[in-house]
Amino acid sequence: MAILNIPDRGITIRDLLEIKSVLNSHGIFLEKWKATLPLKDSDTQETILEAYAHELKPFMEKNGFTTADVINVHKDTPNIEMIRGKFLKEHTHSEDEVRFFVDGEGLFWFHLKDDTVINVLCEKGDFLSVPKGFKHWFDLAPKYHVKAIRIFTNVEGWVANYTDSGIDARYNP
Ligand SMILES: [Fe+2]
Repeated sequence: MAILNIPDRGITIRDLLEIKSVLNSHGIFLEKWKATLPLKDSDTQETILEAYAHELKPFMEKNGFTTADVINVHKDTPNIEMIRGKFLKEHTHSEDEVRFFVDGEGLFWFHLKDDTVINVLCEKGDFLSVPKGFKHWFDLAPKYHVKAIRIFTNVEGWVANYTDSGIDARYNP
């Protein structure tokens, strides 16, 4: 279940409808997806994509996405801190960032237009779509375990364009 935090105001929201409403007002979409097959740790990318095809395919067709893959990052992944560091600085993308959390968790940080910073802890079953150009960063810590479906229109579009604002340093542990 996702959790939304507004650290500067000491606000934590756990109610899914309320979280969705806050995010939607900024153009970010959060949904819950359920697998149609029981999944296990050893499942292949194909099995995982099949288990969520009933949600994935209509979403991709409706929004013009052409490619989906599954990333699996865990504590023993080589260069894990380097991988973490890549997404820990504020950046944008030239296409939407769309993720579905199959397992594990990750913390998305969003820098809103009014300069408020919020974070959303995403866990198993959470589907998140972040509009292109939205300032954000992402933390793997403390669990360092994310298995997620990524959806692209163009893999090139998903390069991080760093803002170099330094704002992330005020919030990252
Ligand atoms: Fe990103």
